[in-house]
Amino acid sequence: MASDYSCNAVKLDSINPKVLECEYAVRGEIENLAQKLQEDLNVSPNSHPFNEITYCNIGNPQSLGQQPITFFREVLALCDHPALLDKAETKGLFSADSIKRAFTILDQIPGRTTGAYSHSQGIKGLRDAICVGIEARDGWPADPNDIFLTDGASPAVHMIMQLLIRSKNDGILCPIPQYPLYSASITLHGGTFVPYYLDEAAGWGLEISELNTRLETARSKGIHVKGLVVINPGNPTGQVLAERNQQQIVDFCKKESLVLLADEVYQENIYVHNRPFHSFKKVARSMGYGEKDISLVSFHSVSKGYYGECGKRGGYMEVTGFGREIRNQLYKLASVNICSNISGQILTSLVMNSPKVGDESYECYATERDAILSSLARRAKTLEYAFNSLEGVTCNRAEGAMFMFPCIDLPNKAIEAAEAENTAPDAFYARCLLNATGIVVVPGSGFGQVRGTWHFRCTILPREDEIPTIVSHLKQFHNAFMNEYSN
Ligand SMILES: Cc1ncc(COP(=O)(O)O)c(C=O)c1O
Repeated sequence: MASDYSCNAVKLDSINPKVLECEYAVRGEIENLAQKLQEDLNVSPNSHPFNEITYCNIGNPQSLGQQPITFFREVLALCDHPALLDKAETKGLFSADSIKRAFTILDQIPGRTTGAYSHSQGIKGLRDAICVGIEARDGWPADPNDIFLTDGASPAVHMIMQLLIRSKNDGILCPIPQYPLYSASITLHGGTFVPYYLDEAAGWGLEISELNTRLETARSKGIHVKGLVVINPGNPTGQVLAERNQQQIVDFCKKESLVLLADEVYQENIYVHNRPFHSFKKVARSMGYGEKDISLVSFHSVSKGYYGECGKRGGYMEVTGFGREIRNQLYKLASVNICSNISGQILTSLVMNSPKVGDESYECYATERDAILSSLARRAKTLEYAFNSLEGVTCNRAEGAMFMFPCIDLPNKAIEAAEAENTAPDAFYARCLLNATGIVVVPGSGFGQVRGTWHFRCTILPREDEIPTIVSHLKQFHNAFMNEYSN
């Protein structure tokens, strides 16, 4: 345990109040309880009614057994230890295209080493490869000067908030429910979080009338709204936007002069055939809008998709319609951090430029990718049916991303019991679920929700063979909970 001794130099009331104000529920009270229970189980395996903790709280696929994609790891290994490229055995152990790709990448890195700093936007050759991937995805050109490689999407979001927010009078429109990186980052940078609500009854639909109302309300309070965050596919809500809806959003941002902040980190996680992913840049360009019409930032990450390489900390943002002067300021911000980590940069270029038909790795790569994505789709369906079978629970289908966000109609007695403990009712439910089953979910209150409704977020990531047991424990717990607290 960390020591609790402190000299007088730092006191809680003398640190940055924005840090005190900021919240990040995904790693909040329930996760702390889970860690404590895990410690109990380590010491005494029979100390609780379950023998393991089932982490359904964080979108961290490899921590739950998902295997990395072989091609990506081969290239990374060779780039990290180029001496392997000189050994005869390497040809037998690594595929020809991973060896070729490692040579290409090393040739692009000044000094041919992953141990050196790079350009602050990231290695140019890797940005070129990312642009090739974006162009293949969208059918529209991409410029390596618009790409900023980052240690995952989170630092990119912070960087943009730092650029846009001057004071509490600057606001950013964000969805409710939202991924709390946005509320945390806006708070840390001293701005105002301007909520707009997704319509749960319409499959977490995003209505332009709702955006208009919220924008006008914020403006009437003197808030200068600078940007609109859209998470597509959604976290925690799992919906995928229809292209027509995306066009309306683009038009709204253009008309209202808002920067469109498109969180597209789940672009590869799509589980339904009728909702393909369209990047906002492609949608805007297809509408005939260029850089002069709309300012757009697209965030992407190696943490999600079928790759799930959260720990490698890689990602990029593509920044268009900002103009040279602003981009220079953004470059200055990036250069304060010197550069993002080089393995994350390499991985980002691989994810955006994966093996093609005819490459030696292609078959293995496609098999691994398809197995992960089809299993995730099955897990999402099983959990959707399971949640909807529970008394008082309704759950929209997960069209994409990695989460279910069921709504629970909690009995009054449960709400009273929660209030008696000074706890939000959905946090109370999540705590009871954890204490009874070892299953960790995140209470909906951490993401925001319509007042008086209660939710929790559950990932679809536990191993597929564990899902039936999880469902059975969940059902058993829920029935007992509802019996205990029925009105
Ligand atoms: C919607 C969304 N955006 C951004 C992130 C940040 O991910 P990372 O910093 O690992 O790229 C996450 C992580 O869960 C997320 O769900």
